[in-house]
Amino acid sequence: MKKKKRIAILTGGGDCPGINAVIRAVAKKAISEKDMAVIGIKDGYVGLVHNRHRKLTYNNVSGILTLGGTILGTSKKANPYRYAIKKGKKLTFKDLSTLAIKNLKRLDLTSLVCIGGDGTLGIAYRLFKDGVPVVGVPKTIDNDIRGTDITFGFDTAVQIAVEGIDRIHSTAQSHHRIMIVEVMGHKAGWIALYSGAASGGDIILVPEIPYNLDIIAEKVKERHRKGKRFSIIVVSEGAKPKGGKIVIQRMVKESADPIRLGGIGFVLGEQIEEITGLETRTVVMGHLQRGGPPTPFDRILATRLGTRVVDMIENKEFGHMVGVKKDSLIKVSLKKVSKGPRTVPLNHPLIKSVLSVGTCFGC
Ligand code: F6P
Repeated sequence: MKKKKRIAILTGGGDCPGINAVIRAVAKKAISEKDMAVIGIKDGYVGLVHNRHRKLTYNNVSGILTLGGTILGTSKKANPYRYAIKKGKKLTFKDLSTLAIKNLKRLDLTSLVCIGGDGTLGIAYRLFKDGVPVVGVPKTIDNDIRGTDITFGFDTAVQIAVEGIDRIHSTAQSHHRIMIVEVMGHKAGWIALYSGAASGGDIILVPEIPYNLDIIAEKVKERHRKGKRFSIIVVSEGAKPKGGKIVIQRMVKESADPIRLGGIGFVLGEQIEEITGLETRTVVMGHLQRGGPPTPFDRILATRLGTRVVDMIENKEFGHMVGVKKDSLIKVSLKKVSKGPRTVPLNHPLIKSVLSVGTCFGC
C-alpha cells in the first residue's frame, strides 16, 4: 500500500486574523484532495523543540474560518537556533536546532508549513538550509513582508483601526480636542497610512517620513483658525521626529527582535498640547488590531494562500513562500524575506492622494 504523505503546520510570531483560515485551507485541501495526513505543531517553534503536536482532521479544522487567533497557539520568543532558557532571573540561550530537526524527522514529514512574519519565516529559511522541506505563508497585520504585495490580517487591522478612529472623530468634534490615535505596524507605516486615509485623519505620521513637531502644531492651529476646532492625528507606533528616536515601550530579551514599540502617542500628545494650548488626548489601538474575526478580504486571501501552498508542497518548491503580486499568487524565495521589513515607499500613490485632500504628514 502507498504510504500517506504527512505534512505539519506551525504558526509563529504575533497572532493575526486569518491564521485559522490558512490552517483550514491547508488541512482541508491536503486531506480531501491529496489524501495527506496533517499534524499541527503547538505554540510555534516551542512545539518543535519540545515535540508538542496534535493531529489535524477534516472535522477539527471545520468551523475555524472566521475565528481570530490561532488554534495551534504561537510564540514570539522561541527560536530553535537561539532558544531562551530562563532559570530564575538568569537568561541563557542555547542552539537547540538539532533537537528540533530530530523531532521533525521523527514525524516523517513531506513538508513543514510555516505560517508567520519575517522572524518565523527567517527561522524557516534556516531550517530549510539545514535540510527541512519547508514552505511558508506570510502573515502579519503590519503588511511589511518582502516579496508579497499584501499579507492577510492587514485588511482586518485597518478595518478595526478605522472603526476606532471613526468613533474618536465624534468625541473630538464635540470637545474641540486634538485626538491622537496610535496604531501598530512596527517599523512600517502601512496601517497608519491606510487607516488614516480611510478615516480622514488630518495628520498621518509614519516611520518612513520623520515628522517636524512645529509643522504638526501649525497644521492644527490652522484648522482652528479656519473653524475646524478639532484635529485627528493617526500615528504609527514606529513614527519618530526628524533627527529623533522611536519610542520603545519594553524590551523582550528572550525575543529575536526584542524591541516592542509604543508610547509615541502620549509623547506627542503632551508636546502638542504644550505648543498649541489645545486640549489633547491619546488613544492606543494596541492589540485590539490583532483580535477577532478576519474581514471577508482576509478570509479569501488566507484561503487562496493556504490552498496554493499545498500545490507548492506537491511541486517540491521548498525554501519558498507563497506571495501576492498584483492579484496573482507567486512563489518567493524565503531568502528574500530575511532582508528587512517592506516599508511604505515614499512615492506610494496613496501618499499623493491624501496629500491632495489636505492631509499633513508632519513634514
Ligand atoms: O508584528 C505584529 C505586531 O502587532 C506589531 O504591529 C507590534 O509592534 C508587535 O506585534 C507587538 O508585539 P507584542 O504582541 O509582543 O506586544
